[in-house]
Amino acid sequence: MNVAGPELSPHLLVVFGATGDLMQRKLLPALYAVAASGKAPFVLVGVSRKPLDNAGFQSQCAASLAPVGGSPSPEVIDWTARTVRHVGLGDGTPDDYRRVAAELDRVETASGLPGNRILYLALPASAFPATIEGLGNAAVHRSRGWTRLVVEKPFGRDLASAQALNALIHRYFAETQVYRIDHYLGKETVQNLLVFRFANMLFESAWNRDRVACVEITVAEDLGVEHRAGYYETAGALRDMVQNHLMQILTLTAMEVPAQYEADQIRNEKVKVLRSLEPIAASDAVFGQYDAGEVGGAAVPGYRQEPGVDPSSATETFVALRLKVNSWRWQGVPFFLRTGKRLATKTTFIHVHFRSPPVWFFPASSSGEITANSLRILVQPDEGFELAIEVKKPGHEIELETHRMHFQYSEAFGPLADAYQTLILDVMRGDQTLFVRADEVEESWRIVAPLLAGTIPLSRYSAGSWGPVESEGLVAPGGHQWSEG
Ligand code: BG6
Repeated sequence: MNVAGPELSPHLLVVFGATGDLMQRKLLPALYAVAASGKAPFVLVGVSRKPLDNAGFQSQCAASLAPVGGSPSPEVIDWTARTVRHVGLGDGTPDDYRRVAAELDRVETASGLPGNRILYLALPASAFPATIEGLGNAAVHRSRGWTRLVVEKPFGRDLASAQALNALIHRYFAETQVYRIDHYLGKETVQNLLVFRFANMLFESAWNRDRVACVEITVAEDLGVEHRAGYYETAGALRDMVQNHLMQILTLTAMEVPAQYEADQIRNEKVKVLRSLEPIAASDAVFGQYDAGEVGGAAVPGYRQEPGVDPSSATETFVALRLKVNSWRWQGVPFFLRTGKRLATKTTFIHVHFRSPPVWFFPASSSGEITANSLRILVQPDEGFELAIEVKKPGHEIELETHRMHFQYSEAFGPLADAYQTLILDVMRGDQTLFVRADEVEESWRIVAPLLAGTIPLSRYSAGSWGPVESEGLVAPGGHQWSEG
């Protein structure tokens, strides 16, 4: 999220795992868009174990950039031929890494680059340690210019493994060179949380325990586990979504105003929120797993029937939590977090429920409920927000009705850029604001640690529902309900 960023300098962008899904589906389109904008001069080197030459890799990349079922455009073919190279990693022995290092030097010299390097690990997490060590031992990180390391999620699978990975990275890279990706931070609406809160006094003055009754953060997906059972069976919703994406949304929602708009000042405030969270009690967590059901009118199988899933799997596909932020601002305000696969719809939102007026002097509504304002920040889809306010219905009687004021990004600005485009540009600029710092990732593992022991019972829910009924019990004590869509 660049405010007035430095000029982009020419560099080599080296992607490890270059023939993988992430590179072909997400990174390449983002890189092509960045290249087409003319903002960043770079040469792209894909490193993989596949025995590919430059031409073979270039046509693979061009095919990935082609429209579905179509052929790549002449511009794409020209771009890949000019910009994309492939270097084989072989078996990944120390000699192989030395050969890769020599090859990168050669491409840099041939392209007249000054030695600036981005090393992007688009790899399965199990391959991070060996790759970092291989790169470090072959001194790939010691280039003539700047070097930056980009690491995808999942960053560790618990506190100890995250600490070990941080320690390994810090053997070769300073923290100022490390960019841990959480793609939710690249979403415009997540970035907009800071602007929404700190540029609008109207909301900021009500953003506290005096005015807010509770905050709900929902990240719902209608898709199931798809083709990722191998990974998901070892991860589950807590590791896959809560420790990273939901914690990031929570910190941006609850943090204090930083002294300056600067990466470390912002991240300091986020870490303070994580440190203020009370340890999660088992009674504050509900885990679930989906059974067969119906999503979007189509029958879908249960999680245990998905290809590659153990038929007696105990992996959670749904997590709901009640968190307590023990800070002056939030003490006593529950934060309800919820995420799951195969829920009723795909939606991500933050719903801030304000307190009801202390005394209700209007006639009771037909339902007898005392209403309260609420603000829903829609992260995706239909990015924007809606503010629920009470109005008097025209007529003789005093009758109140809730109406919603909307702001929609697409109406105001048209389509939004993909999160990866934003994040890649920030790495190129050297702006770490939207990347997760070492202490931040460790703190968020510390928060979820008590839930990793496998002691939380697994509730069942039907695909296409809003999760297990047990999750309603988490919010019920304060008289709340989860929002639907
Ligand atoms: C990824 C998870 O990090 O985020 C996936 O591994 C999940 O399981 C995805 O589907 C959701 O991202 P988005 O941007 O589609 O909400």
